[in-house]
Amino acid sequence: MATSPEPLAGGYDVDENAIRFSNYFHVLRELVHLGCGWLALEPRLEVKYALGDHLYDDARTVSKIRRRLYELRTPSDYPGAPDEALAALLDRANDAQDASAYLAIAYGELKPALLAAIRIHLANLDPLIDEPSARLLTQLLHRQERHVVELGPREVPEPAVEDLGALPIRLRQTRPLRVMEPLDEPARDAFVQVTPEGDPYLTDELYVNGEENHVPSDPGEQRHFFHGLMDAELCAAELMARNSHEHPEMPWDFHVDMARQCWDEIRHAEIHDRLMATELGCHWGDYPVGFGYFKSIYALDLLGRLALFNGTSEQKAMWRHSHRRKVLLEMGQVTVARVFDYLLADEVPHVHNGVRWGTHLLGGDERAYREKVRELRAGLDATGAPAAASPS
Ligand SMILES: [Fe+2]
Ligand SMILES: [Fe+2]
Repeated sequence: MATSPEPLAGGYDVDENAIRFSNYFHVLRELVHLGCGWLALEPRLEVKYALGDHLYDDARTVSKIRRRLYELRTPSDYPGAPDEALAALLDRANDAQDASAYLAIAYGELKPALLAAIRIHLANLDPLIDEPSARLLTQLLHRQERHVVELGPREVPEPAVEDLGALPIRLRQTRPLRVMEPLDEPARDAFVQVTPEGDPYLTDELYVNGEENHVPSDPGEQRHFFHGLMDAELCAAELMARNSHEHPEMPWDFHVDMARQCWDEIRHAEIHDRLMATELGCHWGDYPVGFGYFKSIYALDLLGRLALFNGTSEQKAMWRHSHRRKVLLEMGQVTVARVFDYLLADEVPHVHNGVRWGTHLLGGDERAYREKVRELRAGLDATGAPAAASPS
């Protein structure tokens, strides 16, 4: 039986549509920026995990919105500035004094307001004429709903701005991003003991490359090793997040790369967390952790951080992960070996992030970046650490 086709609804005109996306762009760009700033200062492990995951979702969404803005004839690098009402809400998020206050605004106000606007947008657009927007908004809706369920308040209040998509955009104006004070050190749950030297059980031969490298194989040493590795992953996520937050002048793709790496490192921490609890009989917080290595890298400028962390520490860790995998496979420890196989795979793009953005900072001269890496490596000890601290 033939059904008569639905008539076209018309929906929004192209300019109205672009204004709506410009508003979403501003909300999400600032959520990535501020979330990257607060990640290291959020002490709760579970919240840190979720935040690292959401940051990368939001960064990818910003890239897709930029693309849609370009298609809708709008400058996608900087689509004007938000109007007073949205700017006031964003300012409140910037004024948060601690991580919980920030999360309360991000997940209790900004994301719910964004969700409300997307629902209105989806209800009023023409699903055929504007199918690309419909697809993008449907994905955006589901992602934001998940974020609010995971980190939002139990009772989500009515949004402060009824339809932020309909707010005007100030064309040819910009909204600069505010950068937070530098970190002293990352925050950990109160039950995790932080000491200047970290876990004294972790010795240099775990972190050297070559014949002297020792692969931890019995459960006793693996407990300490994976606990230390889990903290190193958290520190790596926190470093990448601060690289993004502290450098809003960098191209957008840099922020996407940092958000991706941040999420990877967060996932690595979750893997070690699970491995400890299920196979090794120990838990996060069983041993002390130290921030010596984190601080030695964090003290550098962006180029130095990329050259020493991505270009050296992670590059050298690739050899160790491959070696650890081989030794553990020979011993029949298949699951632990599999972990190293994936750590190794993820390390390749992380090292590349160093090359890509280090080269960018040196005016596109890759050779100058490699030279910088060589120069900074000269000051390292055998474990690849500039201070007495363990990398991964
Ligand atoms: Fe990692
Ligand atoms: Fe990494």
